[in-house]
Amino acid sequence: MVWDPAQYLKFAGERMRPAVDLLARVPLAAPRTVVDLGCGTGNVTRLLAQRWPGAAVTGVDNSAAMLARAGDAGVADGRIRWQHADLAHWAPAAGEPLPDVVYSNAALHWLDDHPALFARLFAAVAPGGALAVQMPNQFRAPSHVALQETARRPRWRERLAPALRPAPVAGLDEYFAWLAPQATTVDAWTTEYLHVLPAGTDGEHPVVAWTRGTALTPFLALLDADAAQAFVDDYRTRIAAAYPPLADGRVLFPFRRQFVVALRR
Ligand SMILES: C[S@@+](CC[C@H](N)C(=O)[O-])C[C@H]1O[C@@H](n2cnc3c(N)ncnc32)[C@H](O)[C@@H]1O
Repeated sequence: MVWDPAQYLKFAGERMRPAVDLLARVPLAAPRTVVDLGCGTGNVTRLLAQRWPGAAVTGVDNSAAMLARAGDAGVADGRIRWQHADLAHWAPAAGEPLPDVVYSNAALHWLDDHPALFARLFAAVAPGGALAVQMPNQFRAPSHVALQETARRPRWRERLAPALRPAPVAGLDEYFAWLAPQATTVDAWTTEYLHVLPAGTDGEHPVVAWTRGTALTPFLALLDADAAQAFVDDYRTRIAAAYPPLADGRVLFPFRRQFVVALRR
């Protein structure tokens, strides 16, 4: 899947807010090692390094483009290491202490089989450490339903079948059930943000501009340029009906996100 750092960062402020909300609920004063899974362009990784100045921080991602952007931004004290790896197989380096914090903002919904994934990631946390995860839970919202409906149209269905997958994010109670046996506490909650998106300067619908940086990516990766354009036009028609602009051109975009912070026994 091809990620476009510039497109993703168009809404950097809105995307950073849940990362900060998640970080605020991690009750560790001085972890020695922190891992940021699906670190993308590294904005949040740098925030982790600021919060814990004594920690060695590793940002992990499987997008060379996102990591290149992360590395370009640099870090003054060199405490952040960038690791190119697939989270489907990621594990802490053999022979090194387990990380005290395994953090992930807006990344684990790209992976399937959450019971196995969360068991594996929680086992990778040091005793007394934290697994802290935020994932969009937007799969029943018009922005994502429209994507599925468009892709299932006869015109697109065959080509886009590989990008169609069941909603990956489970209920909060299920994350609790998977993590609680190994945890001292599991703090899980949902927040719905009302993003007020500015009118696009390029004429693009702001919700389409948003999903172009994330949920649209796997669909567009399967199409050539002309087909991608036609698919987005089709998708935009549904989005425009679901998210009409206010009189001044701004668009209200409710967005649900799910959070889990589990402390390991
Ligand atoms: C929406 S971005 C979030 C980036 C960053 N955590 C943030 O909050 O700004 C999702 C990131 O997850 C990464 N990602 C998705 N699936 C992955 C996988 N299987 N292995 C590693 N990284 C993955 C993508 O490359 C992308 O950089």
